[in-house]
Amino acid sequence: MYEIGQEEIDAVARVVRSGRLFRYHEGGECERFETRWAEHLGVRHARMTASGTTALTAAMMAVGIGPGDEVIVPACTYMATAVAVLAAGAIPVIVDIDETTTLDPQALADAAGPRTRAVVPVHMWGLSCDMDAIMHVAAEHDLIVIEDACQAVGGGFEGRMLGSIGHLGAFSFNYYKNITCGEGGAVVTNDGEAFQRVANAVDCCAFYWSGRDEEYPGFTANSARASEFEGAILNVQLDRLPGMLDSMRRQKKRVLAAVRDAVRPSPCHSLDHECGASNLLLLDTPEQAEAFAREAGGVVLINTGRHVYTEWDPVLRHRGAHHDALNPFALPQNRGCRMDYSPDMCARSLDILRRTVRVDNHPRTSAEKLEERIERIRGAAAHLAGRGGA
Ligand SMILES: Cc1ncc(COP(=O)(O)O)c(C=O)c1O
Repeated sequence: MYEIGQEEIDAVARVVRSGRLFRYHEGGECERFETRWAEHLGVRHARMTASGTTALTAAMMAVGIGPGDEVIVPACTYMATAVAVLAAGAIPVIVDIDETTTLDPQALADAAGPRTRAVVPVHMWGLSCDMDAIMHVAAEHDLIVIEDACQAVGGGFEGRMLGSIGHLGAFSFNYYKNITCGEGGAVVTNDGEAFQRVANAVDCCAFYWSGRDEEYPGFTANSARASEFEGAILNVQLDRLPGMLDSMRRQKKRVLAAVRDAVRPSPCHSLDHECGASNLLLLDTPEQAEAFAREAGGVVLINTGRHVYTEWDPVLRHRGAHHDALNPFALPQNRGCRMDYSPDMCARSLDILRRTVRVDNHPRTSAEKLEERIERIRGAAAHLAGRGGA
């Protein structure tokens, strides 16, 4: 969570006083946020969900992904990206990232096979994937693109908003995200038919409540509705978002300018448009990265738990559902899908993650604290150089 305060308290209090906590009523907070979020991104439709995971799952269901399908996911993302694929009955195929720590477009091209239906580019740590290259490869292989922008809410790629470039985009508003309502998410798309299915996937009675029952697309799904509390908080958070991103982007550029002669920044695709949530620095060896992170006040990405595929235990162990008969790994339709996972299958990704250090920015960092951060990074680099290499 970056910023929250009196305005959110007031907004929640208004909802409590109104007694209208359920989302379906005219002029409701959820509806207002959805309209504003769609406008902000330049897309036609947005639908709030209970979480980023249910947003990704609804996006999969919206385009009919299911048993028999493979969906490509990167080796570095929160486990939920792969879990959403399994929730739709399909099989995640895990492929390499590059030094940006986002999906390598060449790895995507190499991995796309006859059963591959979709790809999920994940905009990790507020960065943007190379969406031009990914959209190009996806078009060549006839893949649906579902952007996972859960960690990059409000970010962009060369002037286009993340989440709006692929066929669908998914966002998380959990406690750790750029804007938050505690727990929450959203799906966006320009595709009207897919949007109807999203609404159904999030709430199997969405069409009853909105008075458009005749449009009911007809399938059962678990409920993942948002309440008016989430809508009210997000309407305030959205007002804060541009200022927060502006501050983090300025910090990122300041850090980059001040340290790039001392330590190598990781390459990135869209410095002016991504979120600026962190600075990534690439060391030569894992040992250097560990020592550097300790001194600079950062984290080596290999140590970020379930953001690395080797830590996705239920996925790697083929535990894809609560019941064997529903387990995508056991379904006959998925027999031809690639699911032989091993800890070293994306060795290049592991090497990059072992050598990449993340130092986070925060919208409220004072000018003084920012200079301290820079001094720590430079000091850590100088010590490494003194020991024989930065
Ligand atoms: C990249 C990514 N995808 C998906 C999710 C899932 O979001 P949620 O925790 O809201 O379900 C997260 C959340 O941490 C995430 O970081």
